[in-house]
Amino acid sequence: MKRKRTEVALPQKKHYRQRAHANPFSDHALHYPAAPAAVDWADHFPAFPGRAPEFADIGCGFGGLLIQLAPVFPDTLILGLEIRVQVSQYVQDRISALRVASDGSYQNVSVVRANAMKFLPNYFAKHSLSALFFLFPDPHFKSRKHKARIISPTLLAEYAYVLRPGGIVYTITDVKDLHDWMCTHLTAFPLFEPVDEETLRAEGKGPIVDAVYTSTEEGKKVERNGGQKWLACFRRIDVQ
Ligand SMILES: C[S@@+](CC[C@H](N)C(=O)[O-])C[C@H]1O[C@@H](n2cnc3c(N)ncnc32)[C@H](O)[C@@H]1O
Repeated sequence: MKRKRTEVALPQKKHYRQRAHANPFSDHALHYPAAPAAVDWADHFPAFPGRAPEFADIGCGFGGLLIQLAPVFPDTLILGLEIRVQVSQYVQDRISALRVASDGSYQNVSVVRANAMKFLPNYFAKHSLSALFFLFPDPHFKSRKHKARIISPTLLAEYAYVLRPGGIVYTITDVKDLHDWMCTHLTAFPLFEPVDEETLRAEGKGPIVDAVYTSTEEGKKVERNGGQKWLACFRRIDVQ
């Protein structure tokens, strides 16, 4: 018997307008879980009771990566973290609408409004993630603003903590200076080693790499403007 598709209006970005940049040092109203065990992921992923996210998209923006990867990894829970209130609301509404419209798909993706520079280990248990995404992060060009960059030596220790050995950090940007900054810090950090695109594709991660290049709203904007994209990926190494 053919299943009937439900007609649902998807949310429109124009109704969720917000200033382009978030100030990661001004988020005092946000509440965080005391520990990963305190998060009830069933609220986010009711179709997957007892499971926790395995992929995290840091600064997910309008959620393009989540939506593209959802059907590619139907059994992997994928969470976006987004600090801007309207933008995270848009992603939540987009996922809810897609869940209804598709008769049950997109159950494996969700979003939380959070400042990912704070308390990331309160969301994710040690070694629980296999992929972390930093796609077109805010560049914070001026040197006095570099402390707001989402890749920094202090934060790398948190990313290494939540990523399991073998897990991958995916970064991409159209800002060469930021690419160099991310490469320098990630290469210098003892728990990460660079891994090239060819190796990732040979390991079957081609669909992820393709989504990193093309799925997000920011990536599409770069394409429209004829900009260049710099990809850099790193593997969490194992230490005994
Ligand atoms: C340039 S946008 C890129 C969005 C998306 N990754 C893309 O490629 O379309 C950067 C996003 O990161 C979010 N962001 C910045 N700092 C953040 C933080 N500390 N925690 C969570 N999200 C943050 C911003 O609100 C913004 O939506």
